[in-house]
Amino acid sequence: MTDVVRLDAVSKVYGKGQGAVAALREVSVGIPRGSFTAVMGPSGSGKSTFLHCAAGLDVPSSGSVTLGGTELAGMNETALTELRRLRIGFVFQAFNLISALTVIENITLPLRLAGVKADRAWLDEIVSRVGLEGRTSHRPAQLSGGQQQRVAIARALIARPEVVFCDEPTGALDTMTARDVLTLLREVVDGMGQTVVMVTHDPVAASYADAVLFLADGRIVDTLTAPTSEQVAERMTRLGAWV
Ligand SMILES: Nc1ncnc2c1ncn2[C@@H]1O[C@H](COP(=O)(O)OP(=O)(O)O)[C@@H](O)[C@H]1O
Ligand SMILES: [Mg+2]
Repeated sequence: MTDVVRLDAVSKVYGKGQGAVAALREVSVGIPRGSFTAVMGPSGSGKSTFLHCAAGLDVPSSGSVTLGGTELAGMNETALTELRRLRIGFVFQAFNLISALTVIENITLPLRLAGVKADRAWLDEIVSRVGLEGRTSHRPAQLSGGQQQRVAIARALIARPEVVFCDEPTGALDTMTARDVLTLLREVVDGMGQTVVMVTHDPVAASYADAVLFLADGRIVDTLTAPTSEQVAERMTRLGAWV
């Protein structure tokens, strides 16, 4: 499998001098196309920084990030913005929908911002895959949390991105709804061939992934393939995550 995202010796230091914090330390990893990867680690281990650097939301202090073979270093903010709209999908814990827009308008927003017309057949397929038929003219406030996250997942898929990055996508959902959303992300990978990278602190959520990367103190210290939630919980305990 080819890597859709590659990080080579990526370091990120916040601040300067005495107060400097090394959030990532020479992280090198490849994310295979069509895979579902979970990123775990104790609080402050660098998970969000990893996601932000991989997604072009933040610029590494050193090292190289490539997306589909494109080197992000040296791209200007306009080019990065377009890349984030069309080549990357984002799903956040807080859904981040626009309350004044309908479901359909929220889903197609990245395309409209990029000045690209939505393909009707593709839009219909996405709406159906995330199970939002009959809800397309609703506003976010008229939907449950799980439905709102489905809108966010549909929005993340609309541009047929190379990768979908999720930061704690089930963090605001109850257990049952979280499972539905994780099953949907699994289907996005298995049924649509998408690549998904998900930050989570939940071992059950991580067990839906093909592989888990464990971060500690800004480094990848462990990986697990075909993870069970028990294995993930045991590794997290060893990292001192729940002391
Ligand atoms: N914008 C920032 N300015 C200064 N320090 C930051 C900033 N963002 C993150 N950090 C620090 O970098 C480290 C990693 O943070 P983060 O990536 O948010 O970890 P995680 O998501 O695993 O909790 C932490 O020590 C955090 O305090
Ligand atoms: Mg975080």
